[in-house]
Amino acid sequence: MSNRRKLRLGLAAYGTGWDLDAWRLPEASNTGLRDPSVILDIARTAERGKLDYVFAGSALGSEPDRLNRIYRWDNFVYAGYAAALTKNLGFLMSVNSSFEHPYGIARQLATLDNFTAGRTALNVVFGIDRDGDPIGNYGKNPMPTETTKYDRAREFTAVVNRLLYESWDDDLLLDDKAGGALIRPGSWHQIDHHGEHFDVRGPLNVPPPVQPHIPIVQVGLSEESLRFGADYAQVRFSPYFGISRGKEEYRKLKERVAANGRDPEKFKIIPGITFYLAGTTREAVAKFNEINALQLTEEIPSAFSAALGVDLSRVRDTERVLDVVDVESLDDGALKPFISDRARDVKNDRELLRQVLTAQVGEDATLRELYQYVQRSRHEQQPAVVGDAAKIADWLEENLEEHVLDGVQLFPPYHRGPADLFVDLVVPELQRRGIFRTEYEAPTLQGLLDTDDY
Ligand SMILES: Cc1cc2nc3c(=O)[nH]c(=O)nc-3n(C[C@H](O)[C@H](O)[C@H](O)COP(=O)(O)O)c2cc1C
Repeated sequence: MSNRRKLRLGLAAYGTGWDLDAWRLPEASNTGLRDPSVILDIARTAERGKLDYVFAGSALGSEPDRLNRIYRWDNFVYAGYAAALTKNLGFLMSVNSSFEHPYGIARQLATLDNFTAGRTALNVVFGIDRDGDPIGNYGKNPMPTETTKYDRAREFTAVVNRLLYESWDDDLLLDDKAGGALIRPGSWHQIDHHGEHFDVRGPLNVPPPVQPHIPIVQVGLSEESLRFGADYAQVRFSPYFGISRGKEEYRKLKERVAANGRDPEKFKIIPGITFYLAGTTREAVAKFNEINALQLTEEIPSAFSAALGVDLSRVRDTERVLDVVDVESLDDGALKPFISDRARDVKNDRELLRQVLTAQVGEDATLRELYQYVQRSRHEQQPAVVGDAAKIADWLEENLEEHVLDGVQLFPPYHRGPADLFVDLVVPELQRRGIFRTEYEAPTLQGLLDTDDY
């Protein structure tokens, strides 16, 4: 067994994949909108690759205009279904604490943790103002405000934990047939919680979870979300900030966790990536550009060409960027409105453009391909990693070694194909480099997340 730090890997389970346009590829199968076998296969694929868990975000709004997100399968039903077909794979359950009630969620979690023999984790999200207007679907529910949503999240998480772990003693089952006592007298406890947002008596009417602590995962961008994570969570599903800022954020967050008296090594920082993978990097870049071109784009706006210093009345948009843009004389800040640098690690716009050309769209990219990429990546919360297996493994290895992250959540752009390719090509490469497990080392998800990295 190699003594290198090991990645944690999660795989997103969405019926038509994550990319908003890739469903239009001729080879993409969109039956997953209605046919659960597609994401059941995602669970099987994830387990075949010895991945830590599968997950989907919490989506309570309605998005009939977002064609690949018309339907969103319910997480818990999906996990219950896929759990029976898997033995080691974890299930990360995303739950929105601004909308959900802790008693119902504790019931679902405890049930799933028993049914999976300890393979669940809870991802607490807080969003109120989300895509698809969930408030429109939860009209008369009492809602927190932007300022009270974290109070509610804290109370929610505390109540879920109390229901799970304080309702029952471990030796609750007496099974005294002669005496007529199935449950040991005094083995259950009301939690009698009375708080700002919830009143819950308890006990929970489901047996305690198998795991002594169901891992808590959290997302968010604000300072308050970091504080919540340092207090409650074992994993932060983090935005990605590039290497140098990412290292800084990683270090600060680990320090914050340590200052709370917790072991920072056991707190995992895991951003998401969308991956575009093929047998060769050339093919992967071509596929990425093909997908970018599937968006229904308008003409390149003059503000964009002006930022590049190109006059589109004289230069065709099919020209190669490097043939018509004088990279060295790009004005600093000109590209900012178009290319988010949040996910990148660059000093100035010249470097930003070079990096996009090298790592994303390829150095032969045309003006049109660059613009198509820019249009799409503007809304991305996570980087697109494009390349062959070695290149994707290089990206993961560098970020792991630089202490930017402890793992990633993988978002396949479409189905079927990319998730299998990742497991067949990238996982063996990571194993060969000694930065990913070759066997499941623990029977529970907490065990997988917690096991020493070396
Ligand atoms: C990486 C990431 C993933 C998120 N996933 C979800 C999600 O699946 N469902 C959801 O309702 N909100 C999701 N959110 C939104 C957060 O829960 C939160 O509402 C948002 O970041 C705004 O809160 P903040 O200002 O405290 O960060 C996500 C946020 C981030 C950064």
